[in-house]
Amino acid sequence: MIPVKLRLENFLSYRGPVELDFADISVACLWGENGSGKSAILDAITWALWGKTSRTSSSRELVHLGSDEMEVELEFVSGKDLYKVRRTFSRGRTPQEQLYLYQVREGKAWPIMEATKADTQKKIDRLLRMDYDTFINSAFLAQGRAGEFTSKPPSERKEVLGRILGFDFWDRLEEKAKEKKKEAENKERELLGELKQIEEEIKEEKRLNEELKRARAEYEQFNARYNKLQEELRSIEDELHALREKERALNEKRDKLGGLAKDIGEIEGKIRESRRKIESYRETIRREGEVRENLERLQKVRRALESLRVEIDGLKPFEAKANELERKIAEERSRLEGELKVLKGQEAELARDIASLEVYRRALAEVEEGLALLDAQEKEAEEMENKLEKLAEELNSLRREKDLAEEEARRLTEQLEMLSQAQVNCPLCGHPLSSHRKEELIGEFQNRLGSIAASVREREQREMELKREREEVQKRIQALQESLSRRSELVRKKAGLEEKIERMEEEAQELEKLRARIREIEGILQSGSYALEFKAEREALEEALSKLRELEERWDQLSKEEKGLSLWEREAQKLEDAREFCQVLEKTLVELEKELERKRKEKEDLELEVRRLEKEVAYKAEVERRLKEKEREREEASRKRDDAWGKVASVESQLKRIAELKSSREEKEAELRQVREEKGLYQELAEAVGKNGVQAMIIDTALPEIEREANALLARMTEGRMQVRFETQKSTQGGKVQETLEIKISDEKGARDYKLYSGGESFRVDLAIRIALARLLARRAGAPLSVLFVDEGFGTQDADGLDKVVEAINSIRDEFKFVLVITHLEELKEMFPVRIEVTKRPSGSNIEVVRVW
Ligand SMILES: Nc1ncnc2c1ncn2[C@@H]1O[C@H](COP(=O)(O)OP(=O)(O)OP(=O)(O)O)[C@@H](O)[C@H]1O
Ligand SMILES: [Mg+2]
Repeated sequence: MIPVKLRLENFLSYRGPVELDFADISVACLWGENGSGKSAILDAITWALWGKTSRTSSSRELVHLGSDEMEVELEFVSGKDLYKVRRTFSRGRTPQEQLYLYQVREGKAWPIMEATKADTQKKIDRLLRMDYDTFINSAFLAQGRAGEFTSKPPSERKEVLGRILGFDFWDRLEEKAKEKKKEAENKERELLGELKQIEEEIKEEKRLNEELKRARAEYEQFNARYNKLQEELRSIEDELHALREKERALNEKRDKLGGLAKDIGEIEGKIRESRRKIESYRETIRREGEVRENLERLQKVRRALESLRVEIDGLKPFEAKANELERKIAEERSRLEGELKVLKGQEAELARDIASLEVYRRALAEVEEGLALLDAQEKEAEEMENKLEKLAEELNSLRREKDLAEEEARRLTEQLEMLSQAQVNCPLCGHPLSSHRKEELIGEFQNRLGSIAASVREREQREMELKREREEVQKRIQALQESLSRRSELVRKKAGLEEKIERMEEEAQELEKLRARIREIEGILQSGSYALEFKAEREALEEALSKLRELEERWDQLSKEEKGLSLWEREAQKLEDAREFCQVLEKTLVELEKELERKRKEKEDLELEVRRLEKEVAYKAEVERRLKEKEREREEASRKRDDAWGKVASVESQLKRIAELKSSREEKEAELRQVREEKGLYQELAEAVGKNGVQAMIIDTALPEIEREANALLARMTEGRMQVRFETQKSTQGGKVQETLEIKISDEKGARDYKLYSGGESFRVDLAIRIALARLLARRAGAPLSVLFVDEGFGTQDADGLDKVVEAINSIRDEFKFVLVITHLEELKEMFPVRIEVTKRPSGSNIEVVRVW
C-alpha cells in the first residue's frame, strides 16, 4: 500500500477539508510542534483503511470536537492499481459509519463495494494483503508503540511473523485439507455402514429362493381354483340370462293381456251404448203419427196469420192519424197546465208580499207616534233654555252683592287695626280719640263685621242652590237634545214606509186579477173543454181503431200457437235422423259383437301362455342365489390368488434387489479403497502445510534473513556494538525442545534482556527489527517497494544517535517507495528532502509541504 492522496474533514484536530498530496514524495519528514496534528495524519490513514487507530478504539472520539460528522478519503496504490477508500462517521443517537471503495481508472472512480460493510473491509484486507495488526507490528512504528513486536510474548510474535509471511494462506490450506480429510472419513464411515447393510441383506438370498418356490406353488393352486370357478360361473350366468329373457317375454305378454282386457271392456261399453241409442231412435220412430198431425196444423195457422197481416196493414194508417191527434190534444193540455203553474207561482209571490202590508202599517203608526213625542220635547227644551238664562242672571247679581260685602268687611278690618294702635286721631277733626271712644268704635265695627259675615254666608248658600238647579236644567237640556237628534231618521223611515204601503196596495189589485185567470184555466182543464176540434176528429176514427185492436189480438193468439207448433218441425227432422242412424248403428253392432268374440279368444290363448312362462320363471331366484354364492367363492379365490401373486412379486423384488446389491457391493468396495487413499493424502497435506510443515520451514528460512538485515542496520546505528539473534527452539527444564521465537540482544558486554537496554538503545533495536520486517512484508507482497512510517522515538536519541538513525533510515530509503518520519525535533527539520509542516490553528490543524532540497 502506497498512499497517494489524503483528504480529511473534522478528523481529530483537523476541521475543514484538508488535503495532503503524497504523489511526488518518497521520503519525507512530517514536522510540527507537540499537539499540532502529526500523528493524526497516520491515524487518518489507518482509520480510512481499517477503521482503527493506535489512539482509541472508538470512532466517536475521533470526530473533531464540536462536529458531528467526519470523513477521511485515501487514494492508494496496491500492486499496479489505484484505489480510493472513503470512510465517514456521524455520531448521533445511532452512530453510523459508512465505507466506500473505488478503483480509479483513467481519472474516474468505479465503485467496487460489496453488499455489506464487513465484506468491503475484507476486500480491502485482501487488496492490501495485510490487516491492521500486521501493519502496526511491521511497517508502522506508531508513536510510543515502537516496541510493539519486540516486547510481545514469543507465541504472539510468531503469530505476527506468520501474518507478515502470509501464513494465513497456508492456514487456509491446512484447514481445507483437514476438512477434506474429515469428509473422506465421513464417507468412509458411510460406505462401511452401507456395506454392512448389504452383507446382511445378501445373507437372506437362500431363504428367499425357497420362499419364492413355495409362493409360486401356492399361486398355481389358487389360480386353478379361480379358473374352475370362473367356468362354473359362466354357465350359471348363461342359465340366468335365458331365464331373464323368458321373464321379459312374460312381462310383455302380461302387458298385452292387460291391453286385451281393456279392449274387451271398451268394446263391451260400445255395444251397450249402441244398443241404448238404437232403442232411443226406435222410440222416436214410433211417434211418427203425432208429428205429422202437428205439422199439418202448423201449415193451417201460418196461412191464417198471412191473411190477418193483410187486414191489419190496411187499418194501420187510421192508427197513425189517431196517434197524431192524441199528441196534439196532449200538447194543448200541457200548455194550459204550464200556464197554470206560472200563474200559481206569481200568485204565491204576490200573496207573500201582501202578507207584510199589516206589519208595515203598524210600523208607520209607531213612527208617527215618535214624531209627536219629539214635538212635545222641543217645546220643553225651549222652556229649559229660558230657565237657564234666568238662573244665570240671578247668580250674577248674587256674586256682585257678595263682592260689595267683602269689600266693606276688608275696610272695617283695616279701621279696626288702626283703632288698636296707641294713639289714634279722629279722621274728621284730627284730634286724638279717647280710649272710650276707641272701644265704642271697635264694638261698632265688630258688630258691623258680624252682620256682613252673616249676609255673605246667606248669599253663598243661595249661590250653591242656584248652581245645583242650573246643573239639573243643563242635564235635562242635553237629554232632550239627544232625543231630538233622532227626528230626521224618523222622518226618513216614515217616507220609506209610506212608499212601500202604496206599492203593496197596487199589488193586491193585481192579485185579484191573477186569481180570476187561475180559476178559469182550472175550470177548462177539469171540464176537458180544450182542443175540441182534435177531439172530434179523434172520435170519428174510433170504429176503425177498435176493429184494428180486435185483429191484432187475434194475430197475437195465432202467432203464439205458430211458435208452439214450429217445434214439431225439429221433431220431424229428428225422426228422419233416427231412421238413418238406427240403420247405421245396427250394422256397427254386428261388427262389434264379432270383434268382441275375436278378442276374447285371443285373451284365453294368451292366459294359457302366461301361466306356462310363470312356471318356468319361478326358478330365477334360485339361480340368482346360486350365482351370488359362486361369485363370492370366485372373489375369495381371486383374493387368495392375488395375495399369493403379491408374495411372489415381493420375494422376486427382494431377490432382484439382492442381485443389485451384489453389484453395488463391488462398486462400494472400490469407492472405499479410493476414499481411504484420499484420507491418507489429505492427512499428509494438512501436516505438510501446517505449523510444523511448510510454515516452520518458511520461518526457518525467513528468520536468518530478518536477523541479517536487522543486524546490518543495527551495526550502522551502533557502530557495530549491538546485535540481535532470533531463536526458534528452546529446551525446557525437562530437557525437551520447544518451538518459540525469542529475540536475544547483545552488545560488547554480552547478551541481556530487552528491558535492560536504555530507551535510546531499545529504539534502535526496534527500528532495525521493524525495518527488516517491513522489507520482508514488502517482498512478500510481490512488490519490491512499500512503506515505512516512523512516528517519533527520535526524542530518545542524543545528537550522535540521531545522526546515525537518520543515516540508517536514509540508507534503506531506496528499498521503500514511501518513507515518512514524524518528529517535533528542530534538528531533524532539514534532514529530509521534503518536509510536511503541520501547524495547529484555532480553525484546526493545517498542512504545508516544503521542499527542503
Ligand atoms: N476529537 C478531537 N478534536 C479535536 N482535537 C483533538 C481531538 N482528539 C485529540 N485532539 C487534539 O489533536 C491534537 C493533535 O494530536 P496529535 O496526536 O496528532 O498531535 P501530534 O502533532 O502528534 O503531537 P505530538 O508531537 O505530541 O505527538 C492534540 O492537541 C490533541 O489533543
Ligand atoms: Mg504525535
